Amino acid sequence: MCLLKVTDLKVVYPQTIAVRGVSFSVKKGEKIGLVGESGCGKSVLSLSLLNIILGEGKVISGKVEFKGENIFDLPKKELRRLRGRGLGYVFQEPQSAFDPVFTVGNQVVETLLSHNIAPNPGEAKKLAVRYFEMVKIDNPEYVFNLYPFQLSGGMAQRIYLALILMLNPEIIIADEPTTALDVITQKKIMKLIKSIVDENKLSLIFITHNLLLLKNLVDRVIVMYAGAIMEDGNFDDVFKYPLHPYTEGLLKSIAVAREKKEYLEAIPGNVPHRVKEEDKCPFCDRCIKKMHICEKKYPRLLEVKGRKVRCHLY
Ligand SMILES: Nc1ncnc2c1ncn2[C@@H]1O[C@H](COP(=O)(O)OP(=O)(O)O)[C@@H](O)[C@H]1O
Ligand code: SF4
Ligand SMILES: [Mg+2]
Repeated sequence: MCLLKVTDLKVVYPQTIAVRGVSFSVKKGEKIGLVGESGCGKSVLSLSLLNIILGEGKVISGKVEFKGENIFDLPKKELRRLRGRGLGYVFQEPQSAFDPVFTVGNQVVETLLSHNIAPNPGEAKKLAVRYFEMVKIDNPEYVFNLYPFQLSGGMAQRIYLALILMLNPEIIIADEPTTALDVITQKKIMKLIKSIVDENKLSLIFITHNLLLLKNLVDRVIVMYAGAIMEDGNFDDVFKYPLHPYTEGLLKSIAVAREKKEYLEAIPGNVPHRVKEEDKCPFCDRCIKKMHICEKKYPRLLEVKGRKVRCHLY
């Protein structure tokens, strides 16, 4: 069953087209990785799935349908409901998701009451403590009374995950949820996200700049560059045989990173920040396989060997 269907979504900022006619769908229980370097449009795309458009951004075309309903047409109340109980969004900076003035427990209880998950504050607290235990928070009763600034990054991310789970979402969207954490905490949080998604048979959209993080986590990967989908296919196939030169570049950066024991970008050049024109391949300034046509024509996303690829080589 298709839970989420994005069709020809285009989000623009005054200086750039952040999301450039993106289409994809997410089935029930499907786990998708969304990968690309910083500035490729991953966050703008993922936030727009909840109809959150920051700054001067505008959705100028396209649809995002959750169970058949276009979220851009939903009244505010329905949208609020969808943001908790349909799509759970995990942020990169977990602390910023909490209000610094109130205790964690206070905020969790408020959220549970406003979404009618618990009938009263007492029941809400009981539920919160149970979920805090589930995400392996030691001494949950004590943590319940802490303020956000008293939490470590890992703890804040666990609590936020617990809160999202209590709302009983069908899809979890996690935007670089471990980037702000140290390596050991990162591994623990990845393990937790995987077990939560698998045990509850949830769908997942996991966003990262690091392809390697997606290994053993997702079924499918969508590679984004300059706001557009460049390659979309089964993760293991793409990982073994990338078809798009940009995907190849991302994989090479993993090989280099393994040697140097840190993740770094091996593709020369930068993501273009002011891409407006669609009369060439956006990757052509950095592509080692560039051909004459690449500077003349924007490539279409085509079916190639069971995946989708946007490149004139195919
Ligand atoms: N609040 C904003 N104001 C202006 N431009 C923005 C804003 N957010 C994103 N953009 C533009 O959209 C592009 C994609 O940004 P983003 O989705 O945050 O990239 P990613 O998450 O892949 O690092 C950026 O390069 C930037 O030009
Ligand atoms: S279309 Fe051309 S420039 Fe773009 S990725 Fe393919 S080969 Fe490279
Ligand atoms: Mg981002």
